[in-house]
Amino acid sequence: MWPELLGELLVDLILRLIDDSGRRLGRAASRVWGEGVASGMMFEGEEPWLSSCSSAGRAIRLSMMEDKINLAEKLALVNEYWSPAIVGRLNDYKIQVVKVKGEFTWHTHAGTDEFFLVLDGELAIRLRDREVRLNAGEVFVVPRGVEHCPFAETDCQLLVIEPSGTVNTGEAGGDLTAEERSI
Ligand SMILES: [Fe+2]
Repeated sequence: MWPELLGELLVDLILRLIDDSGRRLGRAASRVWGEGVASGMMFEGEEPWLSSCSSAGRAIRLSMMEDKINLAEKLALVNEYWSPAIVGRLNDYKIQVVKVKGEFTWHTHAGTDEFFLVLDGELAIRLRDREVRLNAGEVFVVPRGVEHCPFAETDCQLLVIEPSGTVNTGEAGGDLTAEERSI
């Protein structure tokens, strides 16, 4: 019984707090409860949207994706290379656009795969034993734990999907490490 009561209380709390401070508390609740009723919630962006709310303790979903996203428009807002910008969320994953040029840094994501879709240009994903060359419209997923180094000879635009909180330079760190940001 108590998990249901807890769910009701949590949902009530979230509904009362759909503003800036509420989003912060919501994120905190998500971290605390992990896979409980909080696991289906998303708090991101400037316009949180209550898309659905069934009975207490069940599906409640807040999303920044109130409307469709135009990737070209989002990319026009990106001025720096190797600086991912979050344009949406998919459960606990961040959907990012990135402009790249030149060589990134060799790095590894020990805990997650990394999804690459080339939107424009050509990208080489260098692995230690081979190189994967991607043209526009092509996808590659770097498996978790596999060292990789993206490289683009000329301007290239990407869609990258990975879990929220994933650092772009993985365990390598360095000057190209980017803070998470949304546009
Ligand atoms: Fe990576």
